[in-house]
Formats: sequence, structure tokens, C-alpha cells
Amino acid sequence: MSTSREHFSSKIGFILAAAGSAVGIGNLVGFPVAATKNGGGAFLLVYALFVFAICFPVMLAEMSLGRRSQKDPFGTYSSLSDRSPLWMLGGALSIITPFMIAVFYMVITVWLFGYLFQALTGGLETLAKPDTFGHFITSDSLFIYMIVVFGIVNLILVGGVKQGIEKAAKILMPALFIMLVMLVVYVLTLENSFAGVKYYLIPDFSKINASVVNSAMSQAFFSLSLGMGIMITYGSYLDKDDDIVSSAKFVAFLDTMVAFVAGLLILPAVFSFNPNTDASTLSDSSVSMIFNFLPQILLDLQNSIGYIGASIVAVMFFLLVFFAAITSLVSIIEVPVASMMDEAKVSRKTALTTITVLLIVFSVISALSTGKVEAFTQFIDYADKTHSVFDLIYDVFYDTVLPLNGLLACLFVMWRWKKTNFHKELEQSNAQYTHSLLSKYVDISLSTFIPVILAFIFVNTVALKYFGVSLF
Ligand code: TRP
Repeated sequence: MSTSREHFSSKIGFILAAAGSAVGIGNLVGFPVAATKNGGGAFLLVYALFVFAICFPVMLAEMSLGRRSQKDPFGTYSSLSDRSPLWMLGGALSIITPFMIAVFYMVITVWLFGYLFQALTGGLETLAKPDTFGHFITSDSLFIYMIVVFGIVNLILVGGVKQGIEKAAKILMPALFIMLVMLVVYVLTLENSFAGVKYYLIPDFSKINASVVNSAMSQAFFSLSLGMGIMITYGSYLDKDDDIVSSAKFVAFLDTMVAFVAGLLILPAVFSFNPNTDASTLSDSSVSMIFNFLPQILLDLQNSIGYIGASIVAVMFFLLVFFAAITSLVSIIEVPVASMMDEAKVSRKTALTTITVLLIVFSVISALSTGKVEAFTQFIDYADKTHSVFDLIYDVFYDTVLPLNGLLACLFVMWRWKKTNFHKELEQSNAQYTHSLLSKYVDISLSTFIPVILAFIFVNTVALKYFGVSLF
């Protein structure tokens, strides 16, 4: 089937699609808040170091695997290991993980769409009320928004690689960059906004400790779409003459840049709303920042630009986050869809329909688990707390399994697929690669400290999440 496999039509198309996958809610809200709380510029440096020293080699590994096999992640693990059952298990994990992540990310994207729709229809004032979010996530209108979001994602994915994923990225990503810059410029004109910039950027190295380093690392790893099978899948849509090394550099750079610039939007907005904000009290959760806290700030803008003005800024903000979420959602749903097309040899339409139906079932259950249905809300006990289905999926797949998948990808490339094949793959489009300093670094890091760090994060997360024990 590999001869008929669709490929990206251009390097920029691939870079935008991969960056679109990587840029998400975490970049726009999670990163700025984490940086502010954990040493500002100092956190930024640690984060950037991790992106390039640790995540970048893993990204090269995943993209090369995909391009070599010209298959989905499961097909990649099984074909490049001569169908070793153990590695096929790893392959299976890299299809189940994105499916489950898609479930909870779908729920958040549906909430975003709901807020966007409300802001667009004059409801900003309601959004800013403290109990709105609680009502909203248990309301029936959620299911109408869910249909719309599924509709948009399906419309993109049914178009395939060139006409769907690539085309959407080429429209949504530039729009995202433009909206982000416009919002930053506007926010920086507000009174007291520079107090936020100062708070965000001035380095405080005393805040950097083991747990901050751990969270910077996890944030960087998750942000770049690693361990999700996405970079393997997107890599399988690359031609032999596409330069993986330079594309991966661009993707890592764009993702980090968006996270950095988003800080110049969020923190100044927070400080202009309240110059005496104690940043350590800001919520760690991006969800509560976006749905509870930021609407109040957006509404407050009516004092300077009127209600309509404030609503326009709010629409632009929710549209920005929504676009970021849609491109991530598309990339993650593409993984199980590609897997079904490759493994069950069915058409894109059949695969997409099947995966969509399954996703709807799971997404509805998780959407019902945030308060609407008791049995799903109080679903399971661990680490002395009761958790909902939504929490369980988040904890298991987003927090725990991702580093494990990353670890498997490193081990697979270095110990099973082997260095020479990895080099051969990268050299096809970058003649000097094998003899470059970068290649030496990538080999050493992927076979030594990167797997050790990922294993450590995995063990630490398991101890913390399920047994309530911190290893630090
Ligand atoms: N960077 C994303 C975020 O900020 C995390 C992420 C990467 C993601 N790839 C994804 C989330 C794919 C969902 C689907 O949210």
C-alpha cells in the first residue's frame, strides 16, 4: 500500500501541520502560568534547554521511524521489529494512547467552542460569572457543541493529508500567529501591563528545584506531541527528500516561540486587571484559568473599550485557543484513523467513521463525568481521592503513559532498529548528518540519559499519582 500513501505536498505544509499539533492549550495558558510561578526567565531557560537537548532528539527518532516504515505507529513497530510480539505491544500502546487523549481533549475543545459561541452572541457577561462554568459543563447544550466540533474535525480529516490536514494547518496556523500578535500588542497598551511582563521574565533561580525541573521537562515533552504516535504518523507522510532534521528544528522552535509569546499576552492581562496579583495564587490548571479566571479579565476590558469591544477581544482570544486545540485534535485523531486504514486496509472514510463513533461514545461518557452523572463522576478511588472518568483518562494517558511511550520510542530506535538505520534514514535528505556533531549528540543522548530521564519521570508519576508518594 505504501506506493499509494498520501504525502505532504510541501515542507512548509508539514512544518505547519506538526507545529499545529504541538501548539495547544498548554502553550497558550499552561506554559505562561507555570513559568511565572516557577522562576520566570529561569524556568524559560530550563524549558528551552529541555526542548532542544531532550525533546528534539526524540522528535527526530519518531519522525524517522514513520518515514522509514511509511506506516502508522503500530505498523511501524511491527514491521521494523519483524513482528516481535513485545514491540507490537508497544505499537498498540501508541494507538490506544492518542485515542484516549483525543477523548479528553475533545471535551475541553467542546467547552472552548461553547465559550467562543457565547462570547460571539453577546454572552461575555454571563461567562464572567463565577458559577457559569459549573453550570455550563453539566448543561445539555454541550452535546450540540460537541456535534459541531466533531463536524469540523471530520471535515478536515476526510480531506486526507494534503486537502485536509495540510490545508487546515496552512489556514489555521497563520491565523493563530496573527491573532496572537494582535492580542499581545493590544494587551501591552493596557495600564500596568508591564508589571506582568516583568513578573514573567525576570529570572529567579532560587525557585528552580527538582520538582520544577521535572515539571518543565514534562511540559516540554507533552507540548511537542511526543509519545502520542503523532510524529510517527506525520513522519510517514514525508517523502524521502524531505529534510527531517531542519523540519524538526522548525517545529520545536515554533512551539517554544508560541509558548513564550503567549506569556506576553496572559501575564500582562492578569496584571493590568489587578496590579497586586500574587502570581503564586494563580490556578495551576489551564482549564480553570481559561474558563473561570480569564473571562473576568476579558469582561473588565469593557471599562476602557465598552462591552462590544471587550466581546471582540474575548472572541479573538477564544478563537485563538480554539484554533490551537483543533489542529492538535486533528493530529491526534489522525493516529487511530491512519492505523485503521493501514492495518485493516479500509478506506479513509470507513476508518474515520468508525473512530468517530467510538470517540463519541467515550467523549460523551467523559463529558457526563464532570458532574452530570454520579456514577461517572465518582468513578474510581486512588491516592486517597475519588476520581471521575475524565480525571482517570487524563492521569493515565496524558500524565503517565506518554513518557513511557517516549521511552519505548528511544529504546526501539537505538536497540532494535539500530543507529545505522536511523542514520541512513536521516542522511537521505541531509547528506552531512552522519558526520555532524548533532548526530553524535543525538546518538549518545538517545541511548543514555534521555531514556533514563523518561523512565524516571514515568516512575515518579506512577508513585505520585496512584500512591500519593513523592520521590523528591
Ligand atoms: N501542546 C499541546 C497542548 O498544549 C499538547 C499536545 C500536543 C496535544 N499534541 C497534542 C494535545 C495532541 C492533544 C492532542 O495542549
